Amino acid sequence: MAMRTCLVVLLAAGEGTRMKSAHPKVLHQVAGRSMVGHVIASSREAGADRLAVVVGPGMDALQAEVMALAPEATTAVQSDRLGTAHAVLAARAELDRTVDDVLVLYGDTPLVTPQTLSRVRARLAGGADVVVLGFETPIPTGYGRLLTDQDGCLLAIREEKDASDAERRITLCNSGIMGFRGATMLSLLDAIGNDNAKGEYYLTDAVEIATARGLTVVAETGDENEVLGVNDRAQLSRCEAIYQARARAAAMTAGVTLVAPETVFFSFDTALSRDVIVEPNVVFGPGVTVGEGSRIRAFSHLEGATVAAGAEIGPYARLRPGARVAAGARVGNFVEIKNARVDEGAKVNHLSYIGDAEIGARANIGAGTITCNYDGFGKFRTVIGADAFIGSNSALVAPVSVGSGAFVGSGSVVTDDVPTDALALGRGRQAVKPGWAAEFRTRRTAEKAAAKKRD
Ligand code: UD1
Ligand code: CA
Repeated sequence: MAMRTCLVVLLAAGEGTRMKSAHPKVLHQVAGRSMVGHVIASSREAGADRLAVVVGPGMDALQAEVMALAPEATTAVQSDRLGTAHAVLAARAELDRTVDDVLVLYGDTPLVTPQTLSRVRARLAGGADVVVLGFETPIPTGYGRLLTDQDGCLLAIREEKDASDAERRITLCNSGIMGFRGATMLSLLDAIGNDNAKGEYYLTDAVEIATARGLTVVAETGDENEVLGVNDRAQLSRCEAIYQARARAAAMTAGVTLVAPETVFFSFDTALSRDVIVEPNVVFGPGVTVGEGSRIRAFSHLEGATVAAGAEIGPYARLRPGARVAAGARVGNFVEIKNARVDEGAKVNHLSYIGDAEIGARANIGAGTITCNYDGFGKFRTVIGADAFIGSNSALVAPVSVGSGAFVGSGSVVTDDVPTDALALGRGRQAVKPGWAAEFRTRRTAEKAAAKKRD
């Protein structure tokens, strides 16, 4: 069978007043990615080959996000918010082009899975003209209700404001996600009027119109958690919680141990290999990959970091963007690594800042070592060779290099390159004065006693 073409029309023109935000609603993030980004990703996975995003006037930041995530997408501006059908028609230029399947998705409904979208598409492939993704909920308030006949066939969708008391008791609701056969869609949309409680052009009216024309209209059902819409910050946090629950379950299914799953937070792209062990209270920001058998110990924060197999991170470690920790390396407590390589078997165990650096294989970085990578204007690199030993509390003033096998005495401020196998000492020489402390104590005790007598 030839591949069916698919256009996604993504509605994102809503301002999201209840978010009380300076930013368009769909740019708010779930698991480190904008809501609109989630919908774009799911659309792609469900095989969408074209994407039209309907935005509101002045939403330049949203347009930029769409272009960054989906350069092939077109955006259309809906100048007046006259309803969901009106919004879809803002993308008319796209609907004029031949396509098999059209999916209408909302930018503020970020949790819908590609699998569910594929089910909607399967119904279109099976001959439906209109597919509505419905869901059951104990609290249907605010949603459009699916009106069905005795056989469960979908007849119409009634918006809450237009519904009778009996209709309001229906618990099968419209998620807002709909599928249309491309060939019949435009003629349905053009027949939609705005004679209703809100005076809006309701996309949902397409159902009744299609039914009247004898077209095939079907309802597909999905999980309430997948179609949760975000209108305010509380719903945003519910979406986050649902997403996190999914991500934790997926990680464990894939062979990752989460000691306390509810305390581990994932990003949309966190990639953990099997036999990774994640201790409690770990946060994965975007762009983290962890190799097989590595252990991420408690209270660590990772972002934009790659950890190879068999490494150990934390407890209380912070890996920032560009951190690359090689196999068997060890990054310990209160260590921050940024844009730096820690090669195989190297150890940075305590209280260090390693930025813009390369740490050679098996090198040992003593407690409190700091790479001084910034002079207030530019960033500079520190390069440490294999098997080097950096004594505790050293400051490595970049640009600087320490050759392989070299030693740096503890407490050194290293400003010049250290050759291979050399010892560098960059600190004041220690002076020792025998008996000084005892003399000092005797003198001060006598002085204090004399002062007391005078009072
Ligand atoms: C809509 C559905 C309702 C469904 C509910 C699910 C209609 C008429 N009703 O109702 O059946 O149960 O979603 O959440 O479709 N939008 C625009 N431009 C507009 C109007 C809306 O872009 O002119 C976008 C909004 O940004 C939003 C989405 O479309 O993302 C839904 O619009 P909204 O006004 O929230 O529809 P509801 O009344 O919630
Ligand atoms: Ca809504």
